[in-house]
Amino acid sequence: MRKQIAAANWKMNLTLQEANELLDSIAEKNIQLSEDQIAVFAVPFPYLLLANDKLKNSKGYLVAAQNCFTKESGAYTGEVSAPMLASCNVGYVIIGHSERREYFNENNFTLSQKVDVCLSNNLKPIFCCGESLAIREGGTQNGYVETQLKESIFHLEASQIENFVIAYEPIWAIGTGKTASADQAQEMHAHIRNVFAEKYGNEVANSISILYGGSVKANNAKEIFGKPDVDGGLVGGASLNASEFGLIIQSLKN
Ligand code: PGA
Repeated sequence: MRKQIAAANWKMNLTLQEANELLDSIAEKNIQLSEDQIAVFAVPFPYLLLANDKLKNSKGYLVAAQNCFTKESGAYTGEVSAPMLASCNVGYVIIGHSERREYFNENNFTLSQKVDVCLSNNLKPIFCCGESLAIREGGTQNGYVETQLKESIFHLEASQIENFVIAYEPIWAIGTGKTASADQAQEMHAHIRNVFAEKYGNEVANSISILYGGSVKANNAKEIFGKPDVDGGLVGGASLNASEFGLIIQSLKN
């Protein structure tokens, strides 16, 4: 079975002390994961080593970065590179979150470069895609998401795609309390899988974990994750609370 993943996206939240407490509370819950389940914590850069240390004894609990730069090193003040992340034992990197696309002008081409630099440093991208409310209301969301995937990912070989996680995050559902219905999520996830199948074949498409993101909470996770093409979630607000995120982890399919 492909991996079922509960991914926490802390965004730009929590002080070091608060991060410490949250990681301790999560580790203390001692929620056991099956072979096919993973819990990923995308914490701010300064807390990556701390998170790695706190979670090192929890099987299947991994650490992610929320971004990386397109270049491997050099005079780029303030940026963090993929080789730096790899040297800190980071397994995953969120690429193309809608907040980065919106506030930092990241476009499909920039993101294709970030994808490349992650893969050449053995970091697995959690690649985000998703449409705005205007696009959803216009009914063109399928084509829009397809273009995001094609322009940033489809230059890769099939063997590289196996290292991908996709996160479908409709922008209108992020931080708004407005979740896509489980059926809307399933419909888009099936479309995404189909787009991968057309380009790379069914076997590759079926191996990719596709996460849903956008106001996932403990009280809706089970229904959304229960859909056949939804392989877990990328969770913002609700990942800042240990009990809430613990329940979300426990909502993954077995
Ligand atoms: P949210 O954020 O769960 O707070 O809606 C999800 C995300 O942006 O990854």
